[in-house]
Amino acid sequence: MVNYVVNPDAAYAVVEKIQSAGSNAIAIQADVSNEEQVISMYQQAILKFGTVDILVNNAGLQRDAAFHEMTLQQWQKVIDVNLTGQFLCAREAIKEFLKRGVVAGRSVAAGKIICISSVHQEIPWAGHANYAASKGGIMLLMKSIAQEYAPHQIRVNSICPGAIKTPINQKAWDTPEALNKLLELIPYQRIGQPDDIGKLAVWLASDDSDYITGASVFIDGGMTLYPGFSTNG
Ligand code: BGC
Repeated sequence: MVNYVVNPDAAYAVVEKIQSAGSNAIAIQADVSNEEQVISMYQQAILKFGTVDILVNNAGLQRDAAFHEMTLQQWQKVIDVNLTGQFLCAREAIKEFLKRGVVAGRSVAAGKIICISSVHQEIPWAGHANYAASKGGIMLLMKSIAQEYAPHQIRVNSICPGAIKTPINQKAWDTPEALNKLLELIPYQRIGQPDDIGKLAVWLASDDSDYITGASVFIDGGMTLYPGFSTNG
C-alpha cells in the first residue's frame, strides 16, 4: 500500500513498479498528520490485503527558517507531518500487529516498523530547528515503542539517512558548486541514492535482521563522523 498526499502520479508509478515485479499494490491518499485519514487508510489497506505486516514511516518535509523568524505555522507543519504522522501511523500498525500476532511461515515477528529519521536526530542543524526537533522526537518515539512492544515480537527501528538525492534537498546538489560544498560533509564522497535507503529498509523488514530492535541505523557516507575534524582539532 503506497500512501501519498499531493502527488498521485508518483504514487501510481510506484504501484506499477511493484505490480510489474509480480506483487499486488494499491495507492491510498491520506495526510498522515490527520487522525481520521490515517485510520481510514489502514481500514482500506486491511480490507484489500487482510492485514498489515510492515510499516515504513516515511513522510517528511522541511519548512526552513532562521529560528528567530520561524512562524508557528512552519514549526507546527513540520512537527505535525514528521512526528505526529509517525505516531498516528505507528499506533494503527501496532493495533493490527497485536490483534494478529505472529503468523507461522510468514515472519518470525508479529510486525515491523521502520521509522525514517535523519542524521539530524543527532547533528544539530541551524536554520532547521523544527526539522531537527522532529527527528530528535522520532528517536525516542521509536525507542519507547520498541521497548514497549518487543515482548509481543514487534520490532521497531529507525533509518537515519544523510544527504540523499531527492527533491527535499535539491538545492544542495543541483549545481556542481552546491554538490562540491555538500561533499565536504560526506567522507565517502558521493551523495546517497534512494536505492541505498530502500535496500536497508528491505533488510530491516526481513527476518534477516530479526534480533534488531530499537536501533538507529545511520546511512550517510560518514556524515556523522565529524568530517571537519579530519584536518582540524
Ligand atoms: C534532510 C536533507 C539533508 C540531509 C543531510 C536530511 O534529513 O532532509 O535536506 O540534505 O538530511 O543534511
